[in-house]
Amino acid sequence: MISTEKKIAIHNLIEERWSPRAFENKSVGEEQLKALFEAARWAPSAMNEQPWRFIYAVKEDKENFDRLFSCLVEGNSWAENASALFISVAKKNYDYNGNPNSVALHDLGLATGNLLLQATDLGLHVHLMGGFKADKAREVLGIPEGFEPVSMGAVGYAGDPETLPENLKAREVAPRKRKPLNEIAFKGEWEQK
Ligand SMILES: Cc1cc2nc3c(=O)[nH]c(=O)nc-3n(C[C@H](O)[C@H](O)[C@H](O)COP(=O)(O)O)c2cc1C
Repeated sequence: MISTEKKIAIHNLIEERWSPRAFENKSVGEEQLKALFEAARWAPSAMNEQPWRFIYAVKEDKENFDRLFSCLVEGNSWAENASALFISVAKKNYDYNGNPNSVALHDLGLATGNLLLQATDLGLHVHLMGGFKADKAREVLGIPEGFEPVSMGAVGYAGDPETLPENLKAREVAPRKRKPLNEIAFKGEWEQK
């Protein structure tokens, strides 16, 4: 659902991105998924460390899809209708000196942002999820020490909200909201509006 509260013009890709829970029963091709991760690959990062990693599976690859799905909490069960799932992982220390990378999560977020916009450009939607079991993900996906599972994503074509249970349907069609600009961007000094 596209926000109706637009006041200042922003890029279409940003405006059109949103997070559905209902997905069409339609495959997402390997090439499309590769384009998402290629977009992530070109994000900026501190020291060009590129601390992002992704593990993904398409629905047709049932074993790997189910393994990713098993990491989600019950509240995210709607993601079983997605055409692909992925998990994003951050490398916690710099390659070049082994010191902690205090902006690894930040840079993984930048890469994921690229991925979301590329998905929008391809007519796809991605719904990110923090609701997953990190320990289980480490175990079943073989994520090594020094890497932190950060979020999961459900990828597909937005579907019909009518296919959702009532509680999810209400959230799917609710107007999207954001804090006003003057609560998040201050001119010159904290909380100067
Ligand atoms: C890091 C992160 C974690 C999220 N975790 C969940 C989640 O576990 N389950 C869920 O349904 N949505 C989750 N969301 C989606 C947000 O609720 C959604 O992005 C937010 O409400 C704004 O809606 P929009 O993406 O449609 O603009 C998550 C989003 C992000 C960025």
